[in-house]
Amino acid sequence: MQDMHPHLKEVLFTEEEIRNRVAEMGAQVTKDYEGQTVVLISVLRGAAIFMSDLAREIKCPIEMDYMAVSSYGNGAKSSGVVRILKDLTSQIEGKHVLIAEDILDSGLTLRYLINYLKSRNPASIEVATLLRKKTRLQADIKCRYVGFECPDEFIVGYGLDYNERYRNLPYIGILKDGIIQD
Ligand code: IMP
Ligand code: MG
Repeated sequence: MQDMHPHLKEVLFTEEEIRNRVAEMGAQVTKDYEGQTVVLISVLRGAAIFMSDLAREIKCPIEMDYMAVSSYGNGAKSSGVVRILKDLTSQIEGKHVLIAEDILDSGLTLRYLINYLKSRNPASIEVATLLRKKTRLQADIKCRYVGFECPDEFIVGYGLDYNERYRNLPYIGILKDGIIQD
């Protein structure tokens, strides 16, 4: 594999592992939504990379839309109080919505978002998350598709950032202690 970024202490998932897993997830989605149209929704910015790869592995018709939210309280923690910075462009009433999320940590952001989207009366709403952290405290979110379980560490790459950096790494890894300043 290519050289690991010097700010990382460990690679968790290689480019190839991610590609294979995303292909499996896409195949499952294709099967589950046969004969239907799926509206993929991603939360900017982290999940955009995962969603664009997942989209290409789904063989049924899809639409794509984006939301941007900011979680109050910055740094590495999420507060669950969410402000919508960019709303959906399209109508989702009566449609099958699949939220593509990069990582489920506390689940607070997603819980808010699911409730918000439910108020628009979609036919169904499901979640595909690439990563799910093994944390002590997780809101009760049902994820129909989970790419990988990951340790409760701060991870970056493949869309995930720390202070907007590292999103472009094609693999996912754990940041070295000392890089995170909180
Ligand atoms: P939650 O509301 O705690 O589930 O926060 C989820 C969001 O926090 C994700 O969509 C990410 O943007 C961000 N996040 C959580 N854990 C990490 C991490 O380890 N690295 C980078 N971003 C993370
Ligand atoms: Mg995110």
